[in-house]
Amino acid sequence: MTKNNKQLDKIIALAKRRGFVYPSSEIYGGFAAIYDFGPYGSLLAKNIKDYWWKKMTQEKENIVGLDSAIFTSPKVWEASGHVSGFSDPLMECKNCNARLRADTLLEEVGVFADEKMSEKEIIEIFLNNKDKHKCPNCGKKDFSEPKSFNLLVKSNLGNFTGDFEKDPAYLRGETAQGIYINYKNVMDTSRVKIPFGIAQIGKAFRNEITARQFIFRTREFEQMEMQYFIHPDMTKDEYEKLKKERWQFYLDLGIKEDNLKWKKHEKLAFYAKEAYDIEYNYPFGFKELEGIHARGDYDLSQHSKHSGQSLEYLDPETKEKYIPHVIEASGGVGRAFLAIICDAYCEEELENDTRTVLKIDKKIAPIKVAIFPLLKNKEKLFNKAKEIYNNLKNQYYCEFDSSGNIGKRYRRQDEIGTPYCVTVDFDSLENDDVTIRDRDTMKQHRVKIEDLETFLKDNLNV
Ligand code: GAP
Repeated sequence: MTKNNKQLDKIIALAKRRGFVYPSSEIYGGFAAIYDFGPYGSLLAKNIKDYWWKKMTQEKENIVGLDSAIFTSPKVWEASGHVSGFSDPLMECKNCNARLRADTLLEEVGVFADEKMSEKEIIEIFLNNKDKHKCPNCGKKDFSEPKSFNLLVKSNLGNFTGDFEKDPAYLRGETAQGIYINYKNVMDTSRVKIPFGIAQIGKAFRNEITARQFIFRTREFEQMEMQYFIHPDMTKDEYEKLKKERWQFYLDLGIKEDNLKWKKHEKLAFYAKEAYDIEYNYPFGFKELEGIHARGDYDLSQHSKHSGQSLEYLDPETKEKYIPHVIEASGGVGRAFLAIICDAYCEEELENDTRTVLKIDKKIAPIKVAIFPLLKNKEKLFNKAKEIYNNLKNQYYCEFDSSGNIGKRYRRQDEIGTPYCVTVDFDSLENDDVTIRDRDTMKQHRVKIEDLETFLKDNLNV
């Protein structure tokens, strides 16, 4: 096992042990490529989403929010090109029936297909390298011919004939389509003018053939997407601006810049005119964290053609009529979550111990402050600590913990990334002060109880 695989295993174990991420349906033996976020995981995911939402909508004069439904008319996915063009090259091992992706098998023999390379090209490269491959499951070299497998997830919603294969409603494969089909509604009902953006956070579903690497590639996941509608002449400048902002977003979340890099796509997805990814250095290598795409007028033109509705924009000043072009920022909540915990994970050698600590940026840490009475069976300490907890919990996610020795309580909070621990001891009863311990430096100092709120406000940066 390589060092990096070990690192990922440790992170997966911590995520389970401390209530960040659970495999879905675990009591039934699991459900492949689906995960649930536990108490701390759901808080961390929420903090990432809230920060994105604040940056994308509240702090922007010309970007508005949307929450469109997961289900749409199936016509949306025909118009968008997903029904005909959103697929991966699937093949089966004839010996053990494992389902495999041709590009993944190529990767295993050191041939890296671009994620957005056309399927035909991937299949061609695969067939040219056919002799090199063996099934990762059973080791045999006998595969079916690769065929195109559509990633859209089908459902029988509203279909009472039972034949949903023939007439399916799709779960959305990207949240972006919900934005395009509401572009006209938003324009007609709010005061936006080009250039303007529509932001949305929501679930998306893809029938990924091979889902690996923990929450990196799952079949149900959440996207944070912003579609920016512009005049075609603005594309170059606005695209560069968006790229800069998206890079800065990840730095603001505390990710080390050395662990980020740009990847330009030479081969483009069916909708894209230009595409860059921000990649993160996951334990399994640099992989896509977010895509920033220039989609031209592809989507609005397609929806206009298929729906028969004009989606043209009339410039109120120049009177020019045109179909706006779109640039998008499309990130995954799970991928940001994984990047953040990988980046924050540290093991530090202490005198008699190793401490595991998640140095998550304070503004997105799930729990901001933990409050401890030094001893649990001393009523006065317990009550004073509870009083502090009750005062702070209106403002911050706090935890009250009176169990075990203080060292163990610190370790537990370190593992969930709590920036500050406050201990109430016997001096607190005399002097009305407490000890504050800093997660990253482990340094402790005394603060008057009446100054606690100011201290936290100045240091938590929320
Ligand atoms: N609207 C454009 C779009 O959906 P994409 O590159 O297919 O583009 C955008 O996906 C982002 O969504 C990715 O950068 C990634 O963060 C996330 N994502 C895509 N597929 C995913 C999956 N199977 N599991 C987890 N996240 C995924």
